[in-house]
Amino acid sequence: MKFDQSKKLYTTARNYLAGGVSSNFRYIGYGESPVPLFYSGGKGSRITDLDGNVYIDYALANGPIILGHAPDEVLERVKNTLSMGQLFAGQTEYEVELASKLVELIPCAELVRFASSGTEAIQAAVRLARAATNRAKIIKFEGHYHGWTDNVFVSVHPPLADAGPESRPKSVAQTPGQSIGALDDIITLPWNDLERFASVVQEQADEIAGVIMEPINCNTGAIFPKPGYLEGVRKLTEEHQIVLIFDEVISGFRVALNGAQGMLGVTPDLAIFAKALAAGFPLAAIVGNKEIMELLQTRSVMHGGTYNANVMSVVAGLATIDALQSNSGAAIRRMDELGKTLIEGLLALARKYGQDMSIQGIGSVFHPIFGDIGPVTNYRDYLKMDNALKNNFYAKLQSAGTRVTARGTWFLSTAHTADDIEKSLQHADLAWRELESE
Ligand SMILES: Cc1ncc(COP(=O)(O)O)c(C=O)c1O
Repeated sequence: MKFDQSKKLYTTARNYLAGGVSSNFRYIGYGESPVPLFYSGGKGSRITDLDGNVYIDYALANGPIILGHAPDEVLERVKNTLSMGQLFAGQTEYEVELASKLVELIPCAELVRFASSGTEAIQAAVRLARAATNRAKIIKFEGHYHGWTDNVFVSVHPPLADAGPESRPKSVAQTPGQSIGALDDIITLPWNDLERFASVVQEQADEIAGVIMEPINCNTGAIFPKPGYLEGVRKLTEEHQIVLIFDEVISGFRVALNGAQGMLGVTPDLAIFAKALAAGFPLAAIVGNKEIMELLQTRSVMHGGTYNANVMSVVAGLATIDALQSNSGAAIRRMDELGKTLIEGLLALARKYGQDMSIQGIGSVFHPIFGDIGPVTNYRDYLKMDNALKNNFYAKLQSAGTRVTARGTWFLSTAHTADDIEKSLQHADLAWRELESE
């Protein structure tokens, strides 16, 4: 593979873009590429970089590209409404229609507010939790990511040396420049440990406004909740009038049309949807029970945003849900089946090469765990993974023509085909073979 054009543009980009990129998550170079890559486009399951290298894409822009790149059914509808204008500092019929769809589909959704990114929607939910309870503290969990703002960009992937004891982790700031004061209101806990959660809630209930979590921890190993864990958290939060917030920015419209909450049968008070909601267009939604959501009106809890519910994104959301709902969700089922075939194939290849690898998650979002480290139930388990092997494997995989996310999560789209899966398994075979010969 050649990367001359990406290299050249990266040099130019650094003169104009801070760090040559527009998000710190994009610094990564992969495979033989020593620089972050620049892309000329994508269609369906494939993306092409500036040098003409084509990849089967399982990074999918870190999740949103649920229908594949440039999906015709979405682009058509967006194109048809572009000329009506984008923003009116007022409402359109489309946002009412989309909100009614979310209310119909998502168990906790009685009312909806739209935003443009997951990060900002999380902020609205956290504020609502505080306003609803007149309490300040928010429980979050190690390894869970809720955007990059000061108050929640805490203990996402803290170094073990800073993270404190597993049973009572420290809240670790994740970036220079972060307000240390913002951490005062965060209680960081290990996920999937109901006993620990219960004891903190018993001790501090009258200070705790809300609990926020990824109901499936997609950002750290695609970890599922232990049986009874979500139910236990739900029961305790209800008993103590603590607002339970599910961050479904990744899981929403990916693991199921009604989200992880529908799939796992536990209904939070509030939830955030983004990424797959609009197939790549910037759209997020805060959804939740009427009593709490109405505080946006009755107690004037502030939530704004110039670009909220812009026509383009909302129409993309409508088209995405239509595509996912058609034939009673056949596309999601097919995507999940293809993902399962991929998982089984990857596991078989690891066995073939005598490698210890397990895979967590489901067909539409999964995460291989490299090394014989036992079950991964939380962030501390995840840290035991053989990261050097993981990075070497993915570097070779990308050079062979299959691209996954930098952290090692694989996303499927409804545009992936059986042929893609077969080719990616050939790429994985090649990657292991090369590693073996080194
Ligand atoms: C679970 C989760 N929550 C929140 C966010 C932040 O969303 P955004 O990047 O749209 O601000 C992300 C982004 O990756 C996420 O994965």
